[in-house]
Amino acid sequence: MSEKEIVVSGIRPTGNLHLGNYFGAVKNFIKMQHDTNAHFFIADYHSLTTHPTPADLHNNVRQVLAEYLACGLDPEVATIYLQSDLPETAELYLLLNMNAYLGELERTTSFKDKARQQPENVNAGLLTYPVLMAADIIIHGAKKVPVGKDQEQNLEMARKFAKRFNRMYNVDYFEEPIPYNFGEELVKIPGLDGSGKMGKSEGNGLFLIDDDKTIRKKVMKAKTDSGPTFENSEKPQEIKNLFTIANIVSSQDTVKFFDDAYNNCSIRYGDFKKQLAEDIITFNTPIREKIAAIYADEVYLSKVVKMGAEKARIGATKTIKEVREIIGFKPF
Ligand code: TYM
Repeated sequence: MSEKEIVVSGIRPTGNLHLGNYFGAVKNFIKMQHDTNAHFFIADYHSLTTHPTPADLHNNVRQVLAEYLACGLDPEVATIYLQSDLPETAELYLLLNMNAYLGELERTTSFKDKARQQPENVNAGLLTYPVLMAADIIIHGAKKVPVGKDQEQNLEMARKFAKRFNRMYNVDYFEEPIPYNFGEELVKIPGLDGSGKMGKSEGNGLFLIDDDKTIRKKVMKAKTDSGPTFENSEKPQEIKNLFTIANIVSSQDTVKFFDDAYNNCSIRYGDFKKQLAEDIITFNTPIREKIAAIYADEVYLSKVVKMGAEKARIGATKTIKEVREIIGFKPF
């Protein structure tokens, strides 16, 4: 049995990995997989809350899996699995649902957002999304969950459900998971539209699979203002966002060059964007080529998935057995 701290993270297979996923989460997973007992899974059950009849669920999952592996998540080191390969999670979700209340679920921000975004499909899965997420985490006894700022409230709910289970059945069984922020602030990678964070479906993302032409086109179209009018003025949000992205993909000299140019009002956004696009391309190209190679390797992918499911089930089966006993289910 590993003595290392247990860590869990999930990603919905509802789009390609973007730089927000990479720099907000995956880059840190690559480091932490060696220091912790890390579990990374693809949340395919969860994806049905927003995509109830996915056109191609299997290939969406395959794509994200190939992207994870291409980034450097190592199935020999971490446990990499599909949520639907661990039906124990679904059973724990069912049991936790008995002690999850309508009022608290209706009040969560992500439920309210989604209900607004898809008024024609406010399904029970959407309402109980945080319960399934809690099950994903506590089934492994995870202590830490590396997430971006967007997932903090879901994690707070997971803590609540773990604590409630312990209290209701008078046990000290489940860990209360806390967000793991890599020793820094929770990172938020902005999109190219001058607004908030980079997302899968906001149309503001740079994806790991984007080719050179797509990257150049997206970056050249990114929102900018008409330029600074006096020295050392504060940058508007959309310009700050471009600098945030430059800070993660460009060299310090490049960032300094354009920052100085901004401060002395000589910056030409066209030049800045051209350089930024080339630096993103330099970062993306090797990963994009790896994704394509892994995606095509069915034998390897099937081996990875099988191995992940087997590893994940060891702890999950034990948890379900114990939870059943705690609640009072007994064999005849
Ligand atoms: P999802 O699929 O939206 O995102 C996957 C991971 O990427 C992080 N992330 C970001 N971080 C920084 N900046 C951004 N712009 C950015 N966009 C995404 C997310 O915080 C997340 O860590 N509900 C989860 C999936 C899930 C899960 C879990 C996560 C299901 N069960 C259990 C952790 C533990 C989600 O929708 O992530």
